[in-house]
Amino acid sequence: MAKRKLQRFAENATFNHFFQPLWEELAAGFPLRGKWNSDFFGNDNPVIIEMGCGKGEYTVDLSDKYPERNFIGIDKKGARMWRGAKTSIEDNRKNVAFVRTRAENICMVFGPGEIDEIWITFPEPQPNSPRHSKRFTSPEFISRYRKLLKPGGIIHLKTDSDLFYTYTLEVINESGHELLYSNNDLYANPTDPEVKDVIDVQTHYEKIWLAQGLTIKYLRFRLKEE
Ligand SMILES: C[S@@+](CC[C@H](N)C(=O)[O-])C[C@H]1O[C@@H](n2cnc3c(N)ncnc32)[C@H](O)[C@@H]1O
Repeated sequence: MAKRKLQRFAENATFNHFFQPLWEELAAGFPLRGKWNSDFFGNDNPVIIEMGCGKGEYTVDLSDKYPERNFIGIDKKGARMWRGAKTSIEDNRKNVAFVRTRAENICMVFGPGEIDEIWITFPEPQPNSPRHSKRFTSPEFISRYRKLLKPGGIIHLKTDSDLFYTYTLEVINESGHELLYSNNDLYANPTDPEVKDVIDVQTHYEKIWLAQGLTIKYLRFRLKEE
């Protein structure tokens, strides 16, 4: 394994806001599950998670923009996450944490109703996934989000992928969720007040795709009450 990657793994292990529980530890009961605010952040602020945070810049930049909210980035790739974890320490941000785990494990990381909002940022489209169950907006993932979100909690999606955007709109329509806003070319009218807040902070991949001239799609929705 590359030396730099090993150095990042080693440094991640020293960060007190970086968690990488083993499966056995999750199965035995992750200590912060249901207690993120009381036992880690030490406040009652809203908790927002980013699924597939990659380098974590979006999580860190949102935490800077909204100091009265708590942000947790989730990804399976520790060497990438190191960037956001390191920056948030250098910036002395107290409202950020990272969990290195597979996204499928989130119900073992967070307790029922613990999350206020979920950001899904430039997820892998998973075109060949059987029944698309690996897609972060599949019915399988939505049922996980339902367990974690507070009533009325919001899910945001930013993507460059037509496939993922269209697929998510279909999931929302077919399941009767409440589409709050959708835009298939987010940067076409950047001064639109509805848009400005969403493009104010950009993810690593968002910057790359924008530089290549790709269109960015965005939607947000609320789950149908059961
Ligand atoms: C295209 S990158 C986007 C990164 C970041 N959100 C951005 O916009 O810059 C997708 C990320 O999702 C993560 N990912 C994909 N499947 C995952 C899974 N099942 N569990 C956790 N992370 C996953 C990858 O490791 C990768 O960092």
